[in-house]
Amino acid sequence: MERIFRDDVAREMAGHDFLTIADLSSEQFQRLIDAAQVLKQARRAPWTRRLLEGRTLAMIFAKPSTRTRVSFEVAMYELGGYALFLNPQDLQLGRGETVADTARVLSRMVDGILIRTFEQAEVEELARHATVPVINGLTNTFHPTQAVADLLTLREHKGDLHRLVVTYVGDGNNVAHSLMLGAARVGMELRVCTPPELAPDPEVVRMAQQKAEETGARILLCHDPAEAVDGVDAVYTDVWASMGQEGERERRLELLRPYQVNQELLSRARPGAVVLHCLPAHRNEEITDEVMDGPQSVVFDQAENRLHAQKAILTLFLGTEPV
Ligand code: CP
Ligand code: NVA
Repeated sequence: MERIFRDDVAREMAGHDFLTIADLSSEQFQRLIDAAQVLKQARRAPWTRRLLEGRTLAMIFAKPSTRTRVSFEVAMYELGGYALFLNPQDLQLGRGETVADTARVLSRMVDGILIRTFEQAEVEELARHATVPVINGLTNTFHPTQAVADLLTLREHKGDLHRLVVTYVGDGNNVAHSLMLGAARVGMELRVCTPPELAPDPEVVRMAQQKAEETGARILLCHDPAEAVDGVDAVYTDVWASMGQEGERERRLELLRPYQVNQELLSRARPGAVVLHCLPAHRNEEITDEVMDGPQSVVFDQAENRLHAQKAILTLFLGTEPV
């Protein structure tokens, strides 16, 4: 068995929830990236097929998903476990059973719960009443499992994370929030470039900047995309209207149009800079076809890395020993 899943850092994480990166130490967050790398290299190794033998994961998705759903389901399968996909409309949750009671019942039957929903408070409520680890599969505020795959992808393509300068361009949303909290833990410089009206939540900025002081990271906010991508190692973007914000689409498109990641903007970054996007993309809105399909794009490696990241998350938080 790899020591990466058995030492003191791994023991600290086992049995805990993964609701936001703000709850993790730098060492714990980096362990997720390292473990994801190990599991990626060992994808077909027999020892990995027994890591979660006999374990089950309940997956509640109140919003659509391709990558998160498939990667968690395949990760459970490849590690020897089983995943159940649950649509809240088909659960008694959809008829008014409380989140707390759902948590109590599921905890009697499964070994972990993944939830994608709207309010972060709902995920916290579920975790408060569950006796098994709860993993946040995206809320309006955070997307922590995404950031593990993002930083693994950056490290694979650009090397040591603490030397990198990365610019996130677009909406200061859930993906930006988790990227900021992750960047702060790996000592990276992250410039978050948004329209002033769509800047990240000041409380998340404060948490990221506070952590950055410990690790030597820099988390900077700015509004001018051309200046923000000047000489950087990577450019990251996400959709301009997230799930649940469809009603604000027109206003957002208007505000965000100058923030499109196109070839002209990308030409200001370093020549070997890579382009990331958590996907799904709205092609030719936040990112042009030319950039997304171009040689600097690593978006599909990033999507694949969700699988390896989920394996690390499941193995470390559910723990390798049945509890
Ligand atoms: N990036 C991401 O979470 O994709 P899905 O919405 O397809 O899960
Ligand atoms: N910010 C996007 C990410 C989708 C994976 C959303 O919340 O819809």
